[in-house]
Amino acid sequence: MALNIVIMAAGKGTRMKSKLPKVLHRLAGRSLLQHVLDSAAGLGAQRIVAITGHGAETVEARVSAPGLCFVRQEPQLGTGHAVQQAVPLLPDEGTTLILNGDVPLIRTDTLRALVQACAGRQLALLTIELADASGYGRIVRERGAVRGIVEHKDATPVQRSIREVYTGVMAAPTATLKQWLARLKNDNVQGEYYLTDVVGMAVADGVGVATSAATSEIEVLGINSPVQLADLERRYQRTLADALMESGVRLADPARIDIRGELVAAADVEIDVNCVFEGRVSLGEDVSIGANCFIRNATIAAGAMIHPCTHIDGEALGVRVGAGSLVGPFARLRPGADLAEDVHIGNFVEVKNSTLARGAKANHLAYLGDATVGERVNYGAGSITANYDGANKHRTVIGADVHVGSNCVLVAPITIGEGATIGGGSTVTKSAPARQLTLVRAKQVVIENWTRPTKKK
Ligand code: UD1
Ligand code: MG
Repeated sequence: MALNIVIMAAGKGTRMKSKLPKVLHRLAGRSLLQHVLDSAAGLGAQRIVAITGHGAETVEARVSAPGLCFVRQEPQLGTGHAVQQAVPLLPDEGTTLILNGDVPLIRTDTLRALVQACAGRQLALLTIELADASGYGRIVRERGAVRGIVEHKDATPVQRSIREVYTGVMAAPTATLKQWLARLKNDNVQGEYYLTDVVGMAVADGVGVATSAATSEIEVLGINSPVQLADLERRYQRTLADALMESGVRLADPARIDIRGELVAAADVEIDVNCVFEGRVSLGEDVSIGANCFIRNATIAAGAMIHPCTHIDGEALGVRVGAGSLVGPFARLRPGADLAEDVHIGNFVEVKNSTLARGAKANHLAYLGDATVGERVNYGAGSITANYDGANKHRTVIGADVHVGSNCVLVAPITIGEGATIGGGSTVTKSAPARQLTLVRAKQVVIENWTRPTKKK
């Protein structure tokens, strides 16, 4: 049966008090609307129609999904009016599923069950029982059967005591839905065209109204304010933290972790407080992550230790940390940093687009950019690769067992032969031969009987 999806995302989100359209605010690193689109994408719909209005151009530029198209709603006269805008894009046969762009954590399985409850012939509403239902549309029943939805602002005190609410998600046979939409009126407290009025029409027309219950509150909570956004973020993060702990990961504090993407962790991983993981991060067995680390798009192999306050950002290229490596504290690994096994990267060391072979060490205050570093190299404190000539980047190749002294500048392109030693303080501009000591610095001189100037009286 053909399925089409309509996502309402035209509202202003006044209570966010922000320049950014509400549906573009981020939860766990993704915009609210992108969360909804990603859940919807799992249903294999013919078409996903997003209704945009407030900040439409920005919204349309920043989200994506297979089969996604946009329809503008201008002005915004209510949820029923929003869906009316999509009508020309919906083929009569099949089912239409309607979602809210500001309810980000809706699950694909829940939506699938709702579409099944609709069965292509009746109206299906996703509902939930809430302890505090204020603000929501209430499900009004008579002898168990749904009679309608009454909006909070239009509800009587008795109706306001109803706990069962409409979550903003419904599925309906498209042809019938179109007839109902054409009959909507705005004679209510808010003067809006309420989508929820279709329920009363279904009852009047003798079309069945089914309800399907959401599995958890978190998946139907909508965002209207910064406080709700922050609350949902913490609740969502807690579910991610719980799932990690259930798989054996030890978190110092499940309330102090942020996962904005996909974190895959093997057995006996330990994560200290205040770590942020973005994009795709994979942690091998026994990896330990110290406090206050930021890690994005990186693969960290078994037994590696990332000490506190380390910043790892693989951006598009990724970062790889080999098994048993030690990184930080206060280290920075940038895109293309590729560390083999047992590499040590110490404090205030920056590595970008460089490979370090097994056992290489750069322990203090150093920069390695566009470098190929051999096994067991010892790269001294304060040394840098001068990889950029102001126009182009060049490579530095450092052979196995090289010792680079402290405070050296290796001016690329340059090759340091295997086993070479570079004396501290050298600015090396020509390749250095293997197994020799290369020094590029002024000889030390002693000026005897020299006296310091003194102040004239
Ligand atoms: C709506 C439901 C309410 C339900 C609640 C669940 C109606 C009339 N009420 O109320 O029963 O309990 O959701 O969260 O549907 N939007 C547009 N164009 C408009 C108006 C809204 O695109 O003209 C979009 C908003 O951007 C938002 C969604 O529709 O994504 C819901 O609108 P909102 O104003 O938040 O409806 P609620 O008052 O929450
Ligand atoms: Mg709402």
